[in-house]
Amino acid sequence: MTDTPQLQPKLRSRAWFDNPENVDMTALYLERYLNFGLSLEELRSGKPIIGIAQTGSDLSPCNRHHLVLAERLRDGIREMGGIPLEFPVHPIQETGKRPTAALDRNLAYLALVEVLYGYPLDGVVLTIGCDKTTPACLMAAATVNIPAIALSVGPMLNGWHKGERTGSGTIVWKARELLATGAIDDEGFIKLVASSAPSTGYCNTMGTATTMNSLAEALGMQLPGSAAIPAPYRDRQEVAYFTGRRIVEMVAEDLKPSDIMTRDAFLNAIVVNSAIGGSTNAPIHLAAIARHIGADLALDDWQTHGHKVPLMVNLQPAGEYLGEDFYHAGGVPAVVAELMKQGLIHEDVITANGKTIGDNCRNATIEDDKVIRPFATPLKEEAGFIVLRGNLFESAIMKTSVISPEFRNRYLSNPDDPEAFEGPAVVFDGPEDYHARIDDPALGITDSHLLFMRGAGPIGYPGAAEVVNMRAPAYLIREGVHALPCIGDGRQSGTSGSPSILNASPEAAAMGGLALIRTGDRVRIDLGKGSADVLVDDAELAERRRALTEAGGYAYPASQTPWQEIQRATVGQLQTGAILEGAEKYQRIAQT
Ligand code: FES
Ligand code: MG
Repeated sequence: MTDTPQLQPKLRSRAWFDNPENVDMTALYLERYLNFGLSLEELRSGKPIIGIAQTGSDLSPCNRHHLVLAERLRDGIREMGGIPLEFPVHPIQETGKRPTAALDRNLAYLALVEVLYGYPLDGVVLTIGCDKTTPACLMAAATVNIPAIALSVGPMLNGWHKGERTGSGTIVWKARELLATGAIDDEGFIKLVASSAPSTGYCNTMGTATTMNSLAEALGMQLPGSAAIPAPYRDRQEVAYFTGRRIVEMVAEDLKPSDIMTRDAFLNAIVVNSAIGGSTNAPIHLAAIARHIGADLALDDWQTHGHKVPLMVNLQPAGEYLGEDFYHAGGVPAVVAELMKQGLIHEDVITANGKTIGDNCRNATIEDDKVIRPFATPLKEEAGFIVLRGNLFESAIMKTSVISPEFRNRYLSNPDDPEAFEGPAVVFDGPEDYHARIDDPALGITDSHLLFMRGAGPIGYPGAAEVVNMRAPAYLIREGVHALPCIGDGRQSGTSGSPSILNASPEAAAMGGLALIRTGDRVRIDLGKGSADVLVDDAELAERRRALTEAGGYAYPASQTPWQEIQRATVGQLQTGAILEGAEKYQRIAQT
């Protein structure tokens, strides 16, 4: 008999529990873990210790079902000979956290890095779901680089109202218009919005949650086919169990995030994002994860590799269906298989199950081609993002797949100049200013105006608010004008169907070009050239900059908490992931 190869000679947890030179410290580390039921034999047996990074809690209802799924994770971990230790992750609830959940992505990241690095963990299951929980967990796993696998909580069941699908978030934008025009009252508004959330799970539209969970699978960090399973389904419990089993094997194989999340994996994620109609938050979060793992990824990669990819997945807000339908139609593997036939996927990227994404997805099929359209007959051609530049910002992005026929007719139908439009700016300083003034007839907003939102970036509205998609004034909506062009330094909800120009960097608060624009300035947008400029000459802009700098710079509200102040002092811009600048130099720290 030959010796079985020892795949990982020493588990990192041994440094805590098996330390002959310093037995008194070992005893101290051991005794508290023993007092809730682990045995000395077990802790010294060489069993891997697997963390369950628990993002669910009463404050995080989107991820709360992970409290149930954790039981199945534990079963799987135990059965493979691992020891599960569950711990809380700082809660991030997209819809509950003030001033914005995005403020806490980097906080949860920081705290999770400390836990993964500082405790005796050999591997970790990342319980992902609600928007920022997925990037926060993947960013931390990237920095620490112990074997890690993600488990999605899964989307909510489909919402229904009067026989029609009502999707998370998307219904809110629609209901707001109905309320603004008096078509429904307050109670009707609440009933309509609540109908979209019939069960546990995350948003059932192709918002940031479905996007980031799908991309976590496309990146290879989840078991294949697992992202789309609705939260309450039996299959969701089953995949939790298999995820628990698999992480123990990953520790034995020493399969780490840096083996999985390579540049090619990120390029796959970009292509998948276009095909699913993914959220405009994805470039921010993928940039952040890539920087923490040390993968080379630029904003321009989104246009280079993603723009030409068609929209295949017919989910709201770009299409009509919801999360349950996506699962039944084949989920992420069906999309990847279709993209593979076009040669658009780097097939050799290794994934969490130890196989390549090519092997995982090659035989997947589309089960319902109304929900996942074949590549040849998509919902829209060229559905990825375009990157815009100009004197207003170094970069901003636009999701072209949500440009409606109405929008196209109004702004993109000049036969001499079909990809450009021009108009006067109306400038709002933050969401409060917008809400206070948008319906004021004195502003004189017409359908030729462009709405600007500034003061909403990572520094200005700490974390960056999802406020760039602004509805038109109620009087214009009544005339049938539903979407004005919107431009801003904030973000936009992935559930919004607005073709806004957003994530503008640098933001006004960092004295980017948006700080200088004034209501009434003419602005020209050219989607063909990828340009966005205020038509004010350079000398005038330089004078405005000088005067604003002398006045102390672009003003934004004071911090309300210590973390807001710390984040504002260290955060970077949206175009490079809005990470804590300097944190990216700590890489693969579990190995050092
Ligand atoms: Fe949590 Fe949408 S609010 S997933
Ligand atoms: Mg959101």
